Amino acid sequence: MLFKSLLAVSALAAPAFAQLDFCAEAARFGDLTFSPNPIVLGEPVTFNASFACAIELGYTPVYTDYTLVVPAANNTGFQPDIYFARRDAPASGTDVFTVTFDPNYSQFTTYPNAQYEIILTTTHAATTDSFGETLVQGGTITPVTLILASN
Ligand SMILES: *[C@@H]1O[C@H](CO)[C@@H](O)[C@H](O)[C@H]1NC(C)=O
Ligand SMILES: *[C@@H]1O[C@H](CO)[C@@H](O)[C@H](O)[C@H]1NC(C)=O
Ligand SMILES: *[C@@H]1O[C@H](CO)[C@@H](O)[C@H](O)[C@H]1NC(C)=O
Repeated sequence: MLFKSLLAVSALAAPAFAQLDFCAEAARFGDLTFSPNPIVLGEPVTFNASFACAIELGYTPVYTDYTLVVPAANNTGFQPDIYFARRDAPASGTDVFTVTFDPNYSQFTTYPNAQYEIILTTTHAATTDSFGETLVQGGTITPVTLILASN
């Protein structure tokens, strides 16, 4: 795809809560759940991202990106974002996939009590300019605890 103009805009929404029978504005970038929660390092984690409300509210995703982030307030400066999934938008509106985090990754072993958030970044096309598509991004933040299988 060729874009005459490409503009990246970021916005972060509050975490989405349980889906009701109407679409809350906070669900415009997706509803994310995962199991088990807390995440157990070294064991498979199944993520379930629903974009039904995103689509209904006019934010149909093109790409979705998932990172595990230590918030700036808690970050030593040596805890980079862990980029664990890049997904094309699911045609069905729901994307279920499994990830196993390496318990021996140095960041997990060096900072075993670190505080994390999962950021789901949803990229969608804004329909504002006459040149064509402008891709913009929004996201949801979900606080998460990581534990070791032996704990
Ligand atoms: C994923 O979550 C949706 C609700 O957002 C639910 O309807 C669906 O059954 C879930 N799918 C799986 C495989 O857990
Ligand atoms: C993270 O930072 C916040 C704000 O400084 C602080 O209140 C909280 O206790 C910190 N949590 C951890 C686990 O360091
Ligand atoms: C992590 O490292 C320990 C010690 O080297 C090893 O026994 C263990 O099998 C490793 N875990 C995985 C999941 O590779």
